[in-house]
Amino acid sequence: MDKHPDKPARKPKHASLIQQGKTFTEADYSLQRLLGGMSVEKFLAEHWHKKPLLVRQALPDFGDWLNRDSLSELACQDNSEARLVQFKRGLCQLEYGPFEPEELSGLPKKNWSLLVSGVNHLLPQGDWLLHRFDFIPAARLDDLMVSFAPPGGGVGPHFDSYDVFLIQGQGRRRWEISAQDDLTVVEGAPLRILKEFRVDQSWELEPGDMLYLPPQLAHNGVALTDCMTWSVGFRAPKSDEIVGQFLTHLQDKLELPGMYADPELKRPKHVAEIPSAMLDWAEKTIRAAVRWDKAEIADFLGRYLSEPKAHVFFDPPERPKSLAAFSKAIRKHGVALDARSQMLFRGEAFFMNGERLEASPPLRAKLCDLADQRMLPPSKCEQEQCPELVGLLHLWYQAGYLFPAGLSPAGLSPVGLSPVGLSLAE
Ligand code: SIN
Ligand code: CO
Repeated sequence: MDKHPDKPARKPKHASLIQQGKTFTEADYSLQRLLGGMSVEKFLAEHWHKKPLLVRQALPDFGDWLNRDSLSELACQDNSEARLVQFKRGLCQLEYGPFEPEELSGLPKKNWSLLVSGVNHLLPQGDWLLHRFDFIPAARLDDLMVSFAPPGGGVGPHFDSYDVFLIQGQGRRRWEISAQDDLTVVEGAPLRILKEFRVDQSWELEPGDMLYLPPQLAHNGVALTDCMTWSVGFRAPKSDEIVGQFLTHLQDKLELPGMYADPELKRPKHVAEIPSAMLDWAEKTIRAAVRWDKAEIADFLGRYLSEPKAHVFFDPPERPKSLAAFSKAIRKHGVALDARSQMLFRGEAFFMNGERLEASPPLRAKLCDLADQRMLPPSKCEQEQCPELVGLLHLWYQAGYLFPAGLSPAGLSPVGLSPVGLSLAE
């Protein structure tokens, strides 16, 4: 929702946001620590989609990448998805960004929260953080949201349809959860706030602590100090969404010549009755046209799940390198997906940002690596190993889907091989 349709677009200002903050190294980060010493297998078996997990110091020293000012700066950019939740006289109000700087600097001392979604597209560190959770299929990944709230602030008791990892950035927050079955929400409120909330358990989170919550679990986060929360969210497609979207997919592919014809028409007994011949024709035509199998569903899922969200736009290079120059650059630096790119595969079919591509070996092996690792090192970018690869990567580079490592145009270096100093260690 654009509040300011007539205003000229503001330029992203990521560079000014990253003036401070810890650079994570191999020594600081490990997947085992992220899960509190638990193996991924145990986490998935016992907690994922089932019950909460609190991990103290999952990311020690985490929290300096964004603060109130830099998050507000993001919330004023045209390419961000920002929301401001305020409670006034007990009533919840919701406004959508982008905001004017004055709107955010003049907020009251308490009872509000600023939330910015898609921070993984706006900040290289956000992309890095999101992909620390690559032990969950990318098809489930949604985005990274970062919130700021002053003491007492939050979005109120609610439940999400998401699995979420809530990582405490700056400040402290009390998280309360409830196993209640009553998920009735306040009528007319712009957010789904629970009418009743009975706290069963609560924890105070410090910077670097993490709380995993499964979907449908009632929770409430209350800032105890100025407080930043980083939420890594995993979507689970809803049944009505998937069926509706699949029907749209089938419809988009329909090309049906012909029409009903009744040269044998006899005078009807009732002029208002639908003729049997027309019903038979409609049944036969629909049955013949609307067919699918598992391969069709896989095709739909790949396109649908890799389709960028409506507000996401790529930045193709202004002066793209020639194929030869691109090929030389990736042989030297490797190639990395842009943070906005969504690449999935199923069997021989690869899906890049909603587009499908069939790949035969050895291209398939390279594309699998690119999709899984979100980068290919220089050693895997040699033309001789797979002549089709470089041409395809060049096409995707021209579309802004990937770049020679470290050369993303918006200053958002893909983190895989980037110079921001973040480690991919696990
Ligand atoms: C927040 O960051 O305030 C909201 C996170 C959540 O409860 O889902
Ligand atoms: Co929530």
